[in-house]
Amino acid sequence: MEKIIEVKGVYKLYGNDKNQALKLGKEGKDKAEIHKKTGVTTALWDINLDINQGEIFVIIGLSGSGKSTLVRCFNLLNKPTYGEILFKGNNISKMSKKEIYDFKRNNISMVFQNFGLLSHRNVIGNVEFGLEIRGMSKEERYNKAMEMINLVGLEGFENSPIDNLSGGMKQRVGLARALANDPDILLMDEPFSALDPLVRKDLQFELMKIQRKLNKTIIFITHDINEAFKLGDRVAIMKDGKIIQIATPEEMTTNPANEYVRNFIENADRKKIISVKNIMITPSSIVKIHDTPSFAITTMRNNSVSSAYVVSEKMKFMGILNIESAIEAKKQNLKIEDVIEKNVSKTGADSLVKDIIDTAIVTRYPIAVVDDDEILMGIVTKADVLSAV
Ligand SMILES: Nc1ncnc2c1ncn2[C@@H]1O[C@H](COP(=O)(O)OP(=O)(O)OP(=O)(O)O)[C@@H](O)[C@H]1O
Ligand SMILES: [Mg+2]
Repeated sequence: MEKIIEVKGVYKLYGNDKNQALKLGKEGKDKAEIHKKTGVTTALWDINLDINQGEIFVIIGLSGSGKSTLVRCFNLLNKPTYGEILFKGNNISKMSKKEIYDFKRNNISMVFQNFGLLSHRNVIGNVEFGLEIRGMSKEERYNKAMEMINLVGLEGFENSPIDNLSGGMKQRVGLARALANDPDILLMDEPFSALDPLVRKDLQFELMKIQRKLNKTIIFITHDINEAFKLGDRVAIMKDGKIIQIATPEEMTTNPANEYVRNFIENADRKKIISVKNIMITPSSIVKIHDTPSFAITTMRNNSVSSAYVVSEKMKFMGILNIESAIEAKKQNLKIEDVIEKNVSKTGADSLVKDIIDTAIVTRYPIAVVDDDEILMGIVTKADVLSAV
């Protein structure tokens, strides 16, 4: 994976006595104590992270934890007190004025919570704005703007005055405007927080669709854990200017770094993020397709189970053999192959548990987990599916 942003030892301190603040912080004093003793606010404390090309990287944390301060360092609205930020390997704080100008125009765009639109311009006028400043020809920028307006689902509204639009539509304009520059990175600071829940859901979905289509790197701030887990390929959780954990939603749920993270995500909907591999177990009885029914019966008896998972020599899942069929096969001198149940529910290890709930409810046997080549990886039981959610 290619890194697009690297953050190395970034601090942002507000106040005069920064050296004293730094000293106290290194002794382990927290943000509140440092502020009390020195008057310095530690907005960011030793931030180290990489953002990969094409990922949706979500930053979550309570108000004042430093989310906006960090993101504003990426487009040079803030300058770190210490540390450096690299964009495609280049230190952005070492850029010349011209390079900064080009960087902001070509590589990075921002979408704001309060939209930040020009109210005296209509929809297309807002989307075109950045292109106009770049000096793009009238026809070219019209075409580009229309393309973006269609992309965000606003076709037909291009001539509407901004003031006539709902909040959700305004944010679509904000998104279209940010995308019109064709930036590598889209910064989104709580872009959907001001919208009501249904509109918010639509826009989350729209954003994921657009991301898949355009493959932009998106850095997205929210204080809503459900939104973070829905959108984020990876999520960074911040507290008092520090990063507490960076992980995929799933890793964070199954393995929270500490109590703080655990409490934070308790409010999230687990079934939406737990995947099959987290609850998969190894079946206690596996038999090969060319084993004899007697052998299969013995295996099941030894393991005190009444069915076995049947695989080929190469571990390809073939079906389930239950004890009655095995006994019948033995009596009638049949092969395992002749009596196995082939119509068995299967799933992939990366499927989400929520997507197999319906299957789990009706299935007679635990669901087989197979890979792309139908190799048996494990099984998930009805009880485990239902108790995971
Ligand atoms: N210009 C400034 N001068 C002094 N302190 C500041 C300044 N900007 C931010 N801070 C402080 O830095 C800390 C981090 O603020 P920041 O705005 O980054 O938080 P946030 O996580 O974005 O919060 P919110 O969810 O409320 O937007 C806070 O303690 C804030 O008071
Ligand atoms: Mg903020």
